[in-house]
Amino acid sequence: MFFQFVGFLVLVRLTSASDVENCPDPASVDNSIFVAKQEEGQLLGTYFCLQGYHLVGKRTIHCNASMVWDAPSPTCHLGHCPDPALFNGEFNSLGPVQMSDNITFQCDDGYILMGSSWSQCLEDHTWEPPLPICKSRDCGPPGNPAHGYFEGNDFNAGSNITYYCEERYCLVGTQHQQCVDGEWSSTLPFCQQVPQTELEKVLLAFQEGKDLCQATKDFLKRLKESGLIMEEVKYVLEMKKAELEAKRLL
Ligand SMILES: *[C@@H]1O[C@H](CO)[C@@H](O)[C@H](O)[C@H]1NC(C)=O
Ligand SMILES: *[C@@H]1O[C@H](CO)[C@@H](O)[C@H](O)[C@H]1NC(C)=O
Ligand SMILES: *[C@@H]1O[C@H](CO)[C@@H](O)[C@H](O)[C@H]1NC(C)=O
Repeated sequence: MFFQFVGFLVLVRLTSASDVENCPDPASVDNSIFVAKQEEGQLLGTYFCLQGYHLVGKRTIHCNASMVWDAPSPTCHLGHCPDPALFNGEFNSLGPVQMSDNITFQCDDGYILMGSSWSQCLEDHTWEPPLPICKSRDCGPPGNPAHGYFEGNDFNAGSNITYYCEERYCLVGTQHQQCVDGEWSSTLPFCQQVPQTELEKVLLAFQEGKDLCQATKDFLKRLKESGLIMEEVKYVLEMKKAELEAKRLL
């Protein structure tokens, strides 16, 4: 059972009469007290909900020389604070919230509580600490770094993914990551370009789509400029060949 109060108005005139005296009466709001005062050429009105009710809407409204209130009146709803809400969790509150009520929160399995596990309804109609939320312990798909990718197709709590970079890029950051309480364990790594060696620049002569004669000329010119000797080039080419051979056999 509760009592319905008719809202009433308390108009406090702080300065002498002026234009704003002609502002229309603001709407009367059930279970509230309205206080108005004149300030800097405008009328400033504030609604206060009675104990046991909380305000929904704008508490303060203004009326200036244009003779209209700048916002609709709020309403006062039963319950000293807004009804608590917690998706994917539960709390111990029944019926309208009373001032000083202290409620405790718990999340369902698979969810983690973000915020305080309890909250109290204060005199000013707010919850303190603020109401918590329940966040899934599973992760969303992780991001991909530029020139990189990840392996792993399970993004649930506890699962692991591994990052790799494209050829000619080195991974900087954490390669192996785990989904912990709804977040990947580290920030996204990035893929850094491996600088070209002198030799690679020289060998590019053969990859630039020129005919073999021109490519050979360019190659010899660049080789001379680089100061590398033919023996080194031969050695690296042999290594490259062996690497390709090994890949082919795998
Ligand atoms: C009065 O308030 C309205 C809305 O807030 C505003 O647009 C208007 O410029 C104000 N007029 C004066 C004379 O201050
Ligand atoms: C509210 O209840 C919780 C759990 O019972 C308790 O830890 C907390 O101190 C209480 N808060 C207040 C303001 O009484
Ligand atoms: C993920 O990796 C951690 C350690 O790196 C391991 O303890 C855990 O079992 C792995 N989880 C899965 C689902 O493979």
